[in-house]
Amino acid sequence: KMALRLCYPLAAWIFILLIPGLSEGGKLLVVPAFGSHWLSMKEVIEKVAERGHEVVVLKPEVSWNMRQRQEHAYAVKAYPVSNKLEEIEDSFQEYYAAHLKDMPFPLKLIELYRVYVQIFNTFFLQCRELFNHTETMRYLNQSGFDAVITDPSIMCGVTVANYFSLPLVFFMRGMPCNLHFEAAQCPSPLSYIPRTFSFHSDRMTFFQRVGNALISFLELWYCNGYYHDALKLSSEVLQRDVTLTDLLSSASVSLMRFDFVFEYPRPAMPNMVFIGGINCAQKEPLPQVYSHFPKKCKYMLYGRLVLLFCLVFF
Ligand SMILES: *[C@@H]1O[C@H](CO)[C@@H](O)[C@H](O)[C@H]1NC(C)=O
Ligand SMILES: *[C@@H]1O[C@H](CO)[C@@H](O)[C@H](O)[C@H]1NC(C)=O
Repeated sequence: KMALRLCYPLAAWIFILLIPGLSEGGKLLVVPAFGSHWLSMKEVIEKVAERGHEVVVLKPEVSWNMRQRQEHAYAVKAYPVSNKLEEIEDSFQEYYAAHLKDMPFPLKLIELYRVYVQIFNTFFLQCRELFNHTETMRYLNQSGFDAVITDPSIMCGVTVANYFSLPLVFFMRGMPCNLHFEAAQCPSPLSYIPRTFSFHSDRMTFFQRVGNALISFLELWYCNGYYHDALKLSSEVLQRDVTLTDLLSSASVSLMRFDFVFEYPRPAMPNMVFIGGINCAQKEPLPQVYSHFPKKCKYMLYGRLVLLFCLVFF
């Protein structure tokens, strides 16, 4: 009798597994970020598609580094945008030049903040145009995606997932202002966790800790300025006032492409999975130009700043 009682649920499970709809692959919407952010994501997306899931990559018609050179297993859905590739490239040139400009420290930071806002607003505008494009929005609504995977740095995928109430997966390097850790409610004690731009290690003197606290105070302000346009768009389309942490806390799983070998240890949440090293899936020897670089490289005043920006954003 006991065996029979166990048998029924087992039979039910086997039956459920045999229903074709339930054992098929999922349908995944990918909303990538521009440029180098896409490079490591592409490898993962390709594998997911090869394993029989239906994967659609949503991208603006004008974007960096997303030209299709080889065959791939995923589908691409492009939406029209009004800006030209030259415009994006010009603002990237300006952004790049700002990092190399020789300026006194506070002015330098203001200048960097300005170019960041400018370049990101270009991408926020593309996102606005996505929400304005009825045909694409209808397609997204009717496709019945199971989940969205996105790099949250430009927030568009986050807004799309919230708009269609879809589960959200992050594939990311990091965000300014400790945002993703804050949104996940990770403990982040100021005495042990150096903030972006502080250049401290996890062992700080008393005054370094004070500096760290001041930076975290500034963070209350600068990320809201930085993401001002993205927040405005999200609040409009979601028809409620949203904050950055509201939006970012909707992630079910965060795949973090770094590793504590390179980062200071810090408390993380169980839904954060560290996949550092995935960036190196495709490697090629350095071109000749760079191979002698370390020998020539002088210690620049802003070198660390540039490095930090690169680490955080690329
Ligand atoms: C969105 O569409 C409306 C009406 O179709 C238009 O007036 C507006 O300029 C568009 N906005 C953007 C950012 O494309
Ligand atoms: C998706 O389409 C359905 C009907 O086709 C509509 O009721 C619903 O509001 C749409 N959802 C969004 C988020 O636009």
